[in-house]
Amino acid sequence: MPQAMIYPILIHPDPRLKKVAQDVPDLSDELRALADDMLKTMYHAPGIGLAAPQIGIDQRVIVMDCVKEEGATPRPTAMFNPKIVESSDEKNIHEEGCLSIPDVYADVERPRDVTVEWLDRDGVLRRETFTGLWATCVQHEIDHLDGVLFIDYLKPLKRQLITRKMQKLKRDIARDKV
Ligand code: NI
Repeated sequence: MPQAMIYPILIHPDPRLKKVAQDVPDLSDELRALADDMLKTMYHAPGIGLAAPQIGIDQRVIVMDCVKEEGATPRPTAMFNPKIVESSDEKNIHEEGCLSIPDVYADVERPRDVTVEWLDRDGVLRRETFTGLWATCVQHEIDHLDGVLFIDYLKPLKRQLITRKMQKLKRDIARDKV
């Protein structure tokens, strides 16, 4: 088995971050390896969630680990074809960030609890209700599969400012690479 690899993460704006990703077919070793690569990429960043479109892969795969307490057991989670099947009426406001929008944070309001169905790495259909940080994170990551970024929930002017900041960051990165 080859060692998991770390992918470069796409930075907004990028057309690949705005696409609706494709359902994955039956689970395979390739898909399990992709999930391992995504987890490694996420932990390395570091981050608590990553969606396949963020590494330029047009498939409905997300990974998460929202266990942040020092010394707590990590909970690496990979979901294939995740779908929100129930959302609470109660809302929750949480400050969000995104590995594709580095160093930008903003409050986003979303349903407080969500029930998600997904295929696990063995291709078994799973269903679980998430709350707190996990609920925020899973909604944020599933949004990525539909080409939606957390800044899409902000006012247009704020979104434009962030997009310009990211365009400048990408120019700076490109210049450093020359
Ligand atoms: Ni994100």
